[in-house]
Amino acid sequence: MKILVVGGGGREHALVWKIAQSPLVSKVYCAPGNPGISKLAECVDISSDNLEELAEFAALEHIDFTVVGPEAPLIAGIVDVFECRGLKIFGPSPDPARIEGSKVFAKKLMQTSGIPTADFWICDSLTVARARTADYYGIHGKDARIVIKADGLAAGKGVVVAASLEEAEDALQKFMSDRIFGSAGDVVVIEECLIGEEASIIAITDGETVRPLIPSQDHKRAYDGDLGPNTGGMGAYAPVPIIPLDTVDIAVEQILKPAVAAIRGLGIPYRGFLYAGIMVTKDGLKTIEFNCRLGDPETQTILPLLESDIVPILIRATECTLEQAEIKWRDASSVCITAASGGYPGIFQSGKVISGLEQASEREGCVVFHAGTKEKDGNILTAGGRVLSVTAVGADLEEASIHAYGAMSDIYFEGMHFRKDIAARALQSDSTKV
Ligand code: AMP
Ligand code: GLY
Repeated sequence: MKILVVGGGGREHALVWKIAQSPLVSKVYCAPGNPGISKLAECVDISSDNLEELAEFAALEHIDFTVVGPEAPLIAGIVDVFECRGLKIFGPSPDPARIEGSKVFAKKLMQTSGIPTADFWICDSLTVARARTADYYGIHGKDARIVIKADGLAAGKGVVVAASLEEAEDALQKFMSDRIFGSAGDVVVIEECLIGEEASIIAITDGETVRPLIPSQDHKRAYDGDLGPNTGGMGAYAPVPIIPLDTVDIAVEQILKPAVAAIRGLGIPYRGFLYAGIMVTKDGLKTIEFNCRLGDPETQTILPLLESDIVPILIRATECTLEQAEIKWRDASSVCITAASGGYPGIFQSGKVISGLEQASEREGCVVFHAGTKEKDGNILTAGGRVLSVTAVGADLEEASIHAYGAMSDIYFEGMHFRKDIAARALQSDSTKV
């Protein structure tokens, strides 16, 4: 089989890495890919947003199956473009992909299907949003937190967890008046701030059957101790001690299955990965968000633990026979640490030479997944905010963490920063000692 992976980040590197191990696969292509991916797949210089050109390439090369990594092409309709040409592709079509593309769509879906989530208000004008926020602080006091979300896609930056009325008003001003995310901020969702531990429960679904992957925990804030601004994700680990198997079952029954059923009820089945960002609160699980794809860096920590061949799982999900797929996990843990460019998540530096990649990859149980890198004159240079991630698999979280940080110590580029506390909270809690 010839498989095309769409995307060029760390998540896609992990997908290519796993797919390339399948005995069913003769060749992997990746568009546009990155220098790390190019060691395993033929990289094709087509942007993941260029849907027609991607379909043309898939048709010309007789690609048997395409797997899409990022949300933007899914929301833009890549699945319809491919299917119209009779090309097999895995992912939700654009209508159901609105579960990520529009916070308003997602919140209304949760409300009408009884999926537990934070209380929320949808505001389509700055005046209404300000009044709603002021009311909230009037009721909950000046130390309350409130969450302001731009409705549309904002490159993962359209959410502010405000710690005061001033911070909330500043976010509203930036989203709705300064329009820093353009039309994505025309409507905002204002939410009650949930308190608890966050985790990512990602499922694969064929529209009927919903099969969860191993739960993972991302580290969204830029700095140690969950401080600093939100990022795309600075590291992850799996499995998550606070999400034992019975909690996964609860998430499937209360959150993932109702979402898939509600979308089916709208007329188009949801086929693809469905990512539920959840908060474990004192009142049970609450849904923070849905994404229409795998997470990044969650994928880099989940796939190294997947013992089964991923290709038959993806094909079965496309052919609506997911129930019969074998999905087996290694009895191990993994830790993934992301290295970012100086300045990230703000304006970041690029073009810095990266050293130590080979040494890090040679360490036991370690894989280096590239994200924002490029190759020039035989060197690998930084070319993005999140540059790469290192994943290590170990018998338990402690061993995985030691290996991952060991491998990260081999790697260097000017301005590099990474969190030193990935999985640290889980490791500190006694229940995690394996
Ligand atoms: P989202 O894009 O909706 O996942 O939001 C990004 C991040 O903001 C989440 O991963 C959480 O850390 C935080 N967040 C979003 N909504 C809430 C909420 N209602 N309560 C607390 N934190 C939230
Ligand atoms: N790691 C968060 C995300 O993929 O949305």
